[in-house]
Amino acid sequence: MIDEILEFKTPKRIFFGNGAVKKVGVEAKKFGDKILIIAGKTVRKVGIVDKVRGYIEEESLDVDIFDRVKPEPTTDVFKECIEVLKDYDLAIGIGGGSSLDVTKASSALAKSEGSINDYIGIDKIKKEGIPKILIPTTSGSGSEVSHITVLTDEKGNKNAIYSKYLFSDISVVDPELTLTLPKKVTADTGFDALTHAIESYVSLKSNELTDVLALKAIELISESLRDAANIGNIKSRYNMSMASMLAGIAFVNSSLGAVHALAYPLGVKYHLAHGESNALMLPYVMKFNYNANPQKFKDIGKAMNSRDCIESVIKLARDVDIVSKMRDFGMKEEDIEEFSEIAMISKRLLKYNPREMRKDDAKKIYGEAW
Ligand SMILES: [Fe+2]
Repeated sequence: MIDEILEFKTPKRIFFGNGAVKKVGVEAKKFGDKILIIAGKTVRKVGIVDKVRGYIEEESLDVDIFDRVKPEPTTDVFKECIEVLKDYDLAIGIGGGSSLDVTKASSALAKSEGSINDYIGIDKIKKEGIPKILIPTTSGSGSEVSHITVLTDEKGNKNAIYSKYLFSDISVVDPELTLTLPKKVTADTGFDALTHAIESYVSLKSNELTDVLALKAIELISESLRDAANIGNIKSRYNMSMASMLAGIAFVNSSLGAVHALAYPLGVKYHLAHGESNALMLPYVMKFNYNANPQKFKDIGKAMNSRDCIESVIKLARDVDIVSKMRDFGMKEEDIEEFSEIAMISKRLLKYNPREMRKDDAKKIYGEAW
């Protein structure tokens, strides 16, 4: 460790706290007069988009809304958004991971030539695009603090763009915006955040900086996800927003691992929410990884106030009504072969998993989860 040079990547600025969204108008004005809000219809319906628009109009800025973002956004949505954005000074993304991902890639590419498909991969974007402010309305994806955008192709496969130009100019994390989230979304996205924190903590790429963030996130989620999902009070929402952000910064600078790799094919074939498929795989992958770094798993247990971190994760899932077996989603035992094949494609994730995972290992883990 001591001969390593750490690099630590984050957005340029973060505002965090109840009411933080009120700062958006004043901050937006510093970037120009023409603002485009990018969101999905659900966020618009609950009034969050109008609220943000109000703060921007108070500063006498022009604001339009692009609300054609859907979950698991496809290449078409990105292309459309890039075209629209060319006439604006600033993009403001509001929503869950999908809206923020569309905002990030579209604003980053608004001044680049060619098709978005040319930029899939690592560091393919060569110049700065249009500035962006990101406002998450869920507590899970960590997209507001990451430099990753996930896009879905026509066949349902997911590709990712990694670029420093995807980091936000400002991330505004306001826990009050998550108060209207339904129980299921809270539980699923909360488990995505927990998976980010745990995978980041045990990753071979983890370091002192990412470890403190990941452990704090695990502690907060263990303390607050039940209340956030079952009661939805502001204290638990606050802790989940903080945890999700911390876990996001942790995994950006460390890595995700085999849970995300194994969860991926489930989502593609059976259209599970991202957090839901992670929740399914998490305890079984933890069991597989445990002996690769028992101390780290003991630390996770301590952060969860428990002697057995795997048992605690299973209990937490049960307490927020997350379904725990693949067969409950109609998955078939015959799917396991195909899933194991596809999971192995995620080499970038498996590379930093604390224990080497081969196809046969994946099959065994799916067998247990089935
Ligand atoms: Fe995730």
